[in-house]
Amino acid sequence: MAALRVAVSGSGRVLLSAPRTIHTPKANMSFASLPRNKKVALTTLGVVAAGGAGLALMLHQSVKASDLELHPPQYPWSHGGPLSSLDHASVRRGYQVYKQVCSACHSMEYLAFRNLVGVSHTEAEVKVIAEEIEVVDGPDESGEMFTRPGKLSDYFPKPYPNPEAARAANNGAMPPDLSYIVNARHGGEDYVFSLLTGYCEPPAGVSVREGLYYNPYFPGQAIGMAPPIYNEVLEFDDGTPATMSQVAKDVCTFLRWAAEPEHDQRKRMGLKLLMGSAILVPLLYYLKRHRWSVLKSRKIAYRPPK
Ligand code: HEC
Repeated sequence: MAALRVAVSGSGRVLLSAPRTIHTPKANMSFASLPRNKKVALTTLGVVAAGGAGLALMLHQSVKASDLELHPPQYPWSHGGPLSSLDHASVRRGYQVYKQVCSACHSMEYLAFRNLVGVSHTEAEVKVIAEEIEVVDGPDESGEMFTRPGKLSDYFPKPYPNPEAARAANNGAMPPDLSYIVNARHGGEDYVFSLLTGYCEPPAGVSVREGLYYNPYFPGQAIGMAPPIYNEVLEFDDGTPATMSQVAKDVCTFLRWAAEPEHDQRKRMGLKLLMGSAILVPLLYYLKRHRWSVLKSRKIAYRPPK
């Protein structure tokens, strides 16, 4: 204390030695100073509150319908690792699956033909693909709408003109747009793969309404989409055997690319960042030690006043 008094400046000294005339009421809120019965009461309250909250959470979890559905397993995707790029041959086959199977019901309205260039097809190939569709354009000089062959800048054609038409054609179920579906569903491509390959007979005692299909991975287990793929549902242009799992895997890889076209670039940037920091971080650490060495090796000694 003597040292402190010495340390404070002139005005501080006045403050410290001033007579204590002001009485501040002392509010002691600490648990330890409470009488024994209050301690017991507070502890009981705490335990009851925590237990009640835990019980409520457990009940909430146990009545959640999602607990009844099957969670998809994690599949070893070729693009799964932190440094793995998409398999572009698979993306190309996946586009073929989308075009020949899924596009009958599902739109992908955020994808344009030009997006495929340099990813799964060459520019010349995509031009040929785009020209296969007819696009309503216009108006021309006489104010009429006209149709023309598709161009690179056109978006993927939609199977139905509006959501009502889509519902009407599918027993009231709306086939969602697939552009971002792997990001929009919990489980991503694992879920979509499981959904596509997971159709089975309903277990004994479970009946599914007319027009719905049993799928353990779908929330509620009854899905309005008929099993879309099976072995040899199509013939791949590159000769890959079109087994059910192969088709599902390829379309999921394609959907991953569609939802995350920056996928490969993101991982390449990550790799660059890692390599850059491998040099930078040790350098900065050395610099930090260097700069701080004066402060770190300093010794503070107390010299009592004479
Ligand atoms: C005959 C029409 C039809 C075809 C072909 C079709 N689907 Fe569907 N799909 C639907 C309908 C209808 C739904 C909505 C189901 C529901 O909500 O009960 C749906 C839903 C989905 C869902 C969303 C499930 C969810 O969690 O909400 C995904 C993913 C999907 N389809 C993927 C595909 C893929 C991939 C293909 C191509 C391999 C495909 N579908 C082919 C009609 C179709």
